[in-house]
Amino acid sequence: MSDPAKALNIEDLRRMAKRRLTRGLFEFCDRGSEDDVALRHNREALERIKLRSRVLNDTSSRHTGSEIFGTPVDMPVVIGPTGPAGFVWYRGETELARAAAKAGIPFTVASTANTPMEDIVANGGGGRLWYHLYVWRDMEASLKAVPRAEAAGFEALVLTVDSTVPYNREFDVRNGVTMPVRLTARNVADIVTHPRWLFGTVGRYVMADGHMPRYHNIDMPPGLTSTGIRDFLFKNDMLDWEFLKRIRDMWPRKLVLKGVLHAEDAARAVEHGVDCVVISNHGGIASDAALAPIDVLPSVVREVGGKATVIVDSGFRRGSDILKGLALGADAVIVGRATLYGVAAAGEAGASRALQILHDEMRRTMGVMGLTSVADITREHVVTPDEYPL
Ligand SMILES: Cc1cc2nc3c(=O)[nH]c(=O)nc-3n(C[C@H](O)[C@H](O)[C@H](O)COP(=O)(O)O)c2cc1C
Repeated sequence: MSDPAKALNIEDLRRMAKRRLTRGLFEFCDRGSEDDVALRHNREALERIKLRSRVLNDTSSRHTGSEIFGTPVDMPVVIGPTGPAGFVWYRGETELARAAAKAGIPFTVASTANTPMEDIVANGGGGRLWYHLYVWRDMEASLKAVPRAEAAGFEALVLTVDSTVPYNREFDVRNGVTMPVRLTARNVADIVTHPRWLFGTVGRYVMADGHMPRYHNIDMPPGLTSTGIRDFLFKNDMLDWEFLKRIRDMWPRKLVLKGVLHAEDAARAVEHGVDCVVISNHGGIASDAALAPIDVLPSVVREVGGKATVIVDSGFRRGSDILKGLALGADAVIVGRATLYGVAAAGEAGASRALQILHDEMRRTMGVMGLTSVADITREHVVTPDEYPL
């Protein structure tokens, strides 16, 4: 097994994940869509933003603690929903939940998790758990997850609204990562040359649970073939603001709207009673021509800051990236791939390593910036490309 302790940064965990997973599965986790422009642009947009340091402040006792929904977190980071978490590692969602609990941050269970949500609550380490909802073509069947998540005790419901049409991921088609999986000589070779994943993940589901990985939280008619499952999992492109009202009426706890890229939509969401908006382009997956969320963030903060929690994601790989998001007004940052690489490389230990790296990088950068507390970060600490040279 790869030793995640040897990973010095998220890129090292990415490389470990790449070695353990088949090429098809790794690209499914790693890439964006079409030409990967949005994926690259998310990084470029973050890299162009600079942090401004102040010197000779005693920073010997600095800490990354903050609050989300009024409840303390050890750092203002949330693990976002990533569909294949349970496919890259046996019961990967539970491993991620435990890593998040130990790091003192929330974890979001994806709709397509391969473990029943109640099991994740029972075995996930007792931390804060959010449940993510995708709405399939059969809306009523999709909504059955909502009272179930409430009964299971989830703190928040994360409704993702940027994925109502299929992504254009040509590499998935080429790799045969489709439903049903297309077996070719190339991807059979890909699978058999990755025994750590094949036996350690797929083999473990078969041995321990008696079947291949399944979707345990989606209310599908029994006995569907893989083509039937594919057709069932067609997302619903009829979602509208009336639907958001319906969800608000159904869900009594914190409601998070994920996938917003326009300040007017953020304002309208808050008028509809949403507690938190996530500025996201789905990690560059939803549209290859999408704006980078970090560039949209300031306009959303101007519109709804103080009225709702604002979270940003897409492209965050370093502690300094997180500080840039906070300085531009976000209350927290979601990470997707950073912890997905970690869990794919080494389960809970890998996910914990990813969070430890981000935490250590945040603390180090805060020291350089002359900051002792996340609460002290302001717009003054960040310089955007339109502002330099100073
Ligand atoms: C492989 C993969 C699967 C994902 N699955 C979901 C999902 O099921 N629901 C969702 O709302 N977002 C999903 N996301 C998006 C993440 O929640 C998050 O918005 C994104 O990963 C953030 O970008 P980052 O990966 O650069 O951190 C997925 C992302 C990846 C990479």
